[in-house]
Amino acid sequence: VSDNAGPSLPKTMRASVLLEVGKVAVLERPVPRPGPGEVLVRISSVGVCGSDVHYYQHGRIGDYVVDGPLVLGHEAGGRIVAVGPGVSAARVDERVAVEPGLPCRRCELCRSGRYNLCRDVRFLATPPIDGAFCEFLVVAADFAFAVPDSVSDDAAALIEPLSVGLWACQKAGVGAGSRVLVTGAGPIGLIVLQVARALGAGWIRVSDIDQQRRETALRYGASEVVDPTIVGESEQTPVDCFIDCSGAAAAVKAGIREVSPGGSVVLVGMGSDEVILPIPFIQNRELTVTGTFRYANTYPAAVSLAASGVVDLDGLVTRHVDLDHVADALSPERSSKDIKIIVRPA
Ligand SMILES: NC(=O)c1ccc[n+]([C@@H]2O[C@H](COP(=O)([O-])OP(=O)(O)OC[C@H]3O[C@@H](n4cnc5c(N)ncnc54)[C@H](O)[C@@H]3O)[C@@H](O)[C@H]2O)c1
Ligand SMILES: [Zn+2]
Ligand SMILES: [Zn+2]
Repeated sequence: VSDNAGPSLPKTMRASVLLEVGKVAVLERPVPRPGPGEVLVRISSVGVCGSDVHYYQHGRIGDYVVDGPLVLGHEAGGRIVAVGPGVSAARVDERVAVEPGLPCRRCELCRSGRYNLCRDVRFLATPPIDGAFCEFLVVAADFAFAVPDSVSDDAAALIEPLSVGLWACQKAGVGAGSRVLVTGAGPIGLIVLQVARALGAGWIRVSDIDQQRRETALRYGASEVVDPTIVGESEQTPVDCFIDCSGAAAAVKAGIREVSPGGSVVLVGMGSDEVILPIPFIQNRELTVTGTFRYANTYPAAVSLAASGVVDLDGLVTRHVDLDHVADALSPERSSKDIKIIVRPA
């Protein structure tokens, strides 16, 4: 077995490991070696996602149960420091955004390009697959996407949520002149807002129950922000595309009624597992209603959107922590002012 990992790499690294609900500890782990078709990435930035917080606080998300030590973190960027057999040595030193879900590549869904729906996908920080709150990570060479210098380390990590937003906008058919409603102005909603603008949306309304988040949405170019607890649905201008990024049943139910005939509804938010839908309304207007599951084939376009500055990811970052303070980033007391917290393992 050839080993291009180089003599300069350490044997062990530090990793923040979830040991039980509410308990993470920094442990020494062996530095993994890249196998055929793989690269070793030294992690620079990792975004903290709602799913990391959920695993930390509840030990499970639906059927995914944490039943052993688990490294969290799936929004990762870094630099290639070694390549495995079959990967060009020219890639060493390349700065990359890591796409975290490795599909089987063989099943019908993979082969038809819908690899996000692959049943055998190995997704970082989804039990039992370890994530990126650590110093080094091995990834498939074609799931490490080069980023130019105009993309910061943090932005490289946030290509992941940008992909979620881009996929949602594509599913919704957002295009030139579209009128768009985005419910929920967390990191995902704020990214959807920016992508919708980049795609040429003519008018974008953002709704959030949190005033600070509404103000942030205005700064990111929302045409109008609304407090859903005050504004009644009948007062709303109709939209062509409605993208829910809140997961709140109330937002989904009210939002659908704002969509004009032939329009689209895309449910990105998770939270309310079952929502009563106005079927005659959907039928009479022939609305298209769909959910999204992560994304597929979005990384190249997402990198371009970030590189050109059309989408600002760095502005979403409100705080940095090191590996020893991951618990602060995952705890319930984290500030509601936070939009995106970044873990810097180095
Ligand atoms: N489908 C996918 O593949 C996918 C991927 C990533 C995230 N998600 C989901 O997307 C959602 C958004 O992620 P996030 O990180 O931005 O979460 P977040 O919790 O930071 O943001 C949710 C926002 O919704 C707002 N909100 C709550 N109730 C509302 C209501 N009734 N009307 C309007 N706004 C309301 C909250 O104030 C908050 O600002 C989450 O549910 C997350 O699980 C889905
Ligand atoms: Zn995420
Ligand atoms: Zn597959």
